[in-house]
Amino acid sequence: MSLEQLALDIQHCTRCGLAQGRNKVVFGMGNPAARMMLIGEGPGKDEDEQGLPFVGRAGQLLDRILAAIDLTRREVYIANVVKCRPPNNRVPTRAEAQACLPYLYRQIELIKPAIIVLLGSTALTNLIGPEARITKMRGQWLESRSGIKIMPTYHPAAVLRDPNKRRPVWEDFQKIQEEYLRLTGK
Ligand code: URA
Repeated sequence: MSLEQLALDIQHCTRCGLAQGRNKVVFGMGNPAARMMLIGEGPGKDEDEQGLPFVGRAGQLLDRILAAIDLTRREVYIANVVKCRPPNNRVPTRAEAQACLPYLYRQIELIKPAIIVLLGSTALTNLIGPEARITKMRGQWLESRSGIKIMPTYHPAAVLRDPNKRRPVWEDFQKIQEEYLRLTGK
């Protein structure tokens, strides 16, 4: 199955209760052949309206972070743990995240990124394990069984709320850039 076919299939998903409140399913966007994938939590108000990930304030910050390491969102691939907006932007429940994760895993299989950046605690705990803590694990490389390098860092929305997180995120993205350049030879 192609990424396009998967995107079409998901449009009618009713695997969890988030389907009821959504406006648009937010599948993901970017380069289907990207070497780097960034994974957030789930759509907010703006994303739900536009059907695209990270288009609100956190998304604008993400664009600036990417620009700081000489990348644009057209070169990477951006997706979320859940594809539908949780009511009032609450954190998706574990059941909602688990219901949606097969889609994300399929996206990862199809895109085959060399690097995955986990943006925030929801991405970290649902992809790595419920005990994982972003404060402890950010900035450290993990590796998947299939050899994908995984870097957890703070979510851009958390950086907007707490300026003290700017520096650690900057440091994490320096490491990400270094690895990206090493892997892509650019
Ligand atoms: N926050 C997320 O985690 N994902 C989005 O797409 C937007 C904001």
